[in-house]
Amino acid sequence: MPAPTELTAGPEETERAGARLAATLAPGDVVLISGELGAGKTTFVRGALRELGVEGPVTSPTFVVGHMHDGRQGPLSHLDLYRLAGMAGEDPGLLDPFFADDAIVFIEWPEQAEEAWPAERVRHRVRLSHAGGDQRRIEFDP
Ligand SMILES: Nc1ncnc2c1ncn2[C@@H]1O[C@H](COP(=O)(O)OP(=O)(O)OP(=O)(O)O)[C@@H](O)[C@H]1O
Ligand SMILES: [Mg+2]
Repeated sequence: MPAPTELTAGPEETERAGARLAATLAPGDVVLISGELGAGKTTFVRGALRELGVEGPVTSPTFVVGHMHDGRQGPLSHLDLYRLAGMAGEDPGLLDPFFADDAIVFIEWPEQAEEAWPAERVRHRVRLSHAGGDQRRIEFDP
């Protein structure tokens, strides 16, 4: 299990923190990643996805709701719900493909669409914040 709080000095350290968490995950797990703009959410997910076998670019799904990757042990989904707020009325099945039973799912901006995912699958809640310069604080809820 990762330490409950960690301070990183640069993006590489945040990627490593993501990789360490990823190594504990199993198919079906969902990880929620919160934090203000530029806090390092995508950086954290990049480290996690690399650990799980993704070799191509890992970028912020900014103009689409998410990306899907083929991981070493199964599908990996990376969602950014930033613009999903108030999406009541949109196609309720929009996110379904990202939540295949065996997919590991990373969700940025989860507070924009609470309950858009199966609650029983949430394994970790991670919160990132600026801590001066290139430092970031990462808090892990079990
Ligand atoms: N310790 C650090 N951890 C993570 N990123 C850092 C750190 N120090 C500097 N950075 C830089 O901060 C930026 C973080 O961007 P990133 O896209 O990961 O944030 P984000 O939280 O996903 O933003 P958004 O809300 O726009 O999705 C990157 O340019 C990264 O290089
Ligand atoms: Mg991002």
